[in-house]
Amino acid sequence: MGTIHTGVVTMPLTVRDMTEDDLPELACFYPQHVFETMPAELERARTGVVDHLVVCTPTGVPVAKGAINWDEIPGAGVISTLSVRAELRSIGIGSILIRASEERIRERGLSRSEIGAEENNPRARALYERLGYVAYGSEPASWDQEGPDGTVSKYETTCTLLRKDLC
Ligand SMILES: CC(C)(COP(=O)(O)OP(=O)(O)OC[C@H]1O[C@@H](n2cnc3c(N)ncnc32)[C@H](O)[C@@H]1OP(=O)(O)O)[C@@H](O)C(=O)NCCC(=O)NCCS
Repeated sequence: MGTIHTGVVTMPLTVRDMTEDDLPELACFYPQHVFETMPAELERARTGVVDHLVVCTPTGVPVAKGAINWDEIPGAGVISTLSVRAELRSIGIGSILIRASEERIRERGLSRSEIGAEENNPRARALYERLGYVAYGSEPASWDQEGPDGTVSKYETTCTLLRKDLC
């Protein structure tokens, strides 16, 4: 499904649907507030409203995770909650995950992919633009987050909305 070349190592990677067996490994690198929703998200995936994809090493260890939401925007698959293991960023794994997500969207007979980037995350936005996404708007977003002392607070931000026509 994809290959990364670091200059030292070349490694084939596969992309597949997330399963319950992936959760212990995802807990090591996935943002806590999103990770906590995964049992419920696996249930939602069974109903077909969302696909959760993981990128795996040849031994099957997940090193990146994202989702495609099918019920948010008519006619489009909405890619969200992308995360690559911190020590494996910037070697092409996020690009492999986004391209695999686009392939899923095409297979579903849809011709548009959408993605959001927090306004304080220019690197993610630059990556999406390099992959052909075009900004068309913005919207407020918020979620609970846990601080180092365990207190939970509401994090509020603004997301730039980007889209790409898939042909
Ligand atoms: C954003 C994120 C998902 C991107 O994944 P990634 O694996 O780092 O992305 P890629 O490696 O495909 O591309 C990103 C960078 O690698 C570079 N790159 C891509 N392929 C490469 C390759 N084969 N070799 C070297 N560099 C490469 C790109 O030019 C880009 O450069 P940058 O480091 O200046 O940004 C990841 O960095 C991440 O998990 N970040 C934290 C969470 C987050 O911000 N999520 C997005 C929410 S909107």
